[in-house]
Amino acid sequence: MKYGTPNPTKKTDIHFQNEETHMNFPIENPRDVSRQIVRESIDAELWRKNEAFTNQLEHIIKTSRLYNHPLLQSWVRKEFTLESMGIVHSEVRYAFAEHFGDALIRLMQTTGSFERKLGAKAKMAARFLIQLNVLEELGYKPTPRGKTGFCGHPGFSHYWQLVDTLTALNHPEAKWAAYVPAPESVAVRESLLGSFDDHLRLAVVLAGIETAFIPYYGPWAENTIAVSPTDISGGYHSIHVEADDGTVVDHDHSEDSWYIVRQALTPDRYAEIETFLKDVLEMWARFVDMLAAKDRDVKRAA
Ligand SMILES: [Fe+2]
Repeated sequence: MKYGTPNPTKKTDIHFQNEETHMNFPIENPRDVSRQIVRESIDAELWRKNEAFTNQLEHIIKTSRLYNHPLLQSWVRKEFTLESMGIVHSEVRYAFAEHFGDALIRLMQTTGSFERKLGAKAKMAARFLIQLNVLEELGYKPTPRGKTGFCGHPGFSHYWQLVDTLTALNHPEAKWAAYVPAPESVAVRESLLGSFDDHLRLAVVLAGIETAFIPYYGPWAENTIAVSPTDISGGYHSIHVEADDGTVVDHDHSEDSWYIVRQALTPDRYAEIETFLKDVLEMWARFVDMLAAKDRDVKRAA
């Protein structure tokens, strides 16, 4: 069997497979193959336990105050004004977006922390899987079949698209760079940066972001597009929402991130990670409370 060919029933360990041919690696399914290698890089019983635990974490996210926040309904009703949306995008840029890409790149790097324990190939498969997300985040596009090389443009990077959207909302770079963020945004940003030296916590934060904000993207996009003075429907707000074929890029990204979490988890950290996740969820919910309060301020002043 070729190394990395999907075969869920196969129980042989990764080291045995490594001794087989190295010249015929299948390259058509990088996501499935690297997920499989990541899964097989730890003991099958531990993977099963970790999967049950991460399912529990996903349940905590989906029943959290953040996931069901009333702000979502006011975006569905398109109640935020242009001015409020300028503030929302500036706060999101400061709190999450500026360092989100850094965090993904950092996560590739921190896979080095388990090389001695799980082996070089476990590290490389994890790094390869994270790289898929990094490529999309940085603006690469899948190359059409039959074409060689890479497709993409830095202008498709999600951060570039966000700053273009800020410009469309009357917040060009000079303005958002001088914007004074709310304390809630400072706290979110610091907690993200504060996880950069702990591979597992960083993976949990990223999986958390990729999962917890899925309900936000659609309503946020619709309200923003409705108040924007120019047509921005093809920009940042088309990235994280459902594509025409019904796929959402974040579903792949969040599941990839949970794979990285499961690989790095050990039961001695379950309690700590659960508390950590609950704390960041509450911190993100307070960030959303702040956005709602700012909108009320804007409306009072109008
Ligand atoms: Fe993104």
